[in-house]
Amino acid sequence: MKSVLYMSVVSPYLPHSATDDIAMKASVFNEARGITGILIRKGRYFVQYIEGEESKIDELMTIIGRDDRHSDIVVLDEGVVEERLFKDWHLQTNEIIIGILMKKLQDDSRDHINRGFYFLSALFED
Ligand SMILES: Cc1cc2nc3c(=O)[nH]c(=O)nc-3n(C[C@H](O)[C@H](O)[C@H](O)COP(=O)(O)O)c2cc1C
Repeated sequence: MKSVLYMSVVSPYLPHSATDDIAMKASVFNEARGITGILIRKGRYFVQYIEGEESKIDELMTIIGRDDRHSDIVVLDEGVVEERLFKDWHLQTNEIIIGILMKKLQDDSRDHINRGFYFLSALFED
């Protein structure tokens, strides 16, 4: 399995409610493709973590990359995962989720996942 953690810039004037719309639709699509993960909006940025079969993740990243609701995608980390971080969430979004993600990334011993944690810590530091 492959995982990708990226951030992107939210398109100007995209309402806050758009994140819920995206996640609701995407979770159906992701479930059909065996993809799990989370999507968070923090001000001008989206942060998304997805995991699943490599070909499905690559395919999804291409689709997401064409979406004009955001731009300037920067992949913070990608790598091989043996076990899913988010088993039950095909695409969850919630302000509280960031805390759960940070905890999971911090506790994970794999280097590439751990690096992602440091990026996110910097981004979400208030
Ligand atoms: C930040 C962001 C994250 C997204 N994440 C997903 C995702 O995990 N799965 C998904 O199917 N679509 C996701 N989308 C939506 C896709 O880009 C695309 O709109 C969706 O697959 C449906 O395609 P359609 O709009 O052509 O019907 C995301 C969009 C944005 C802006």
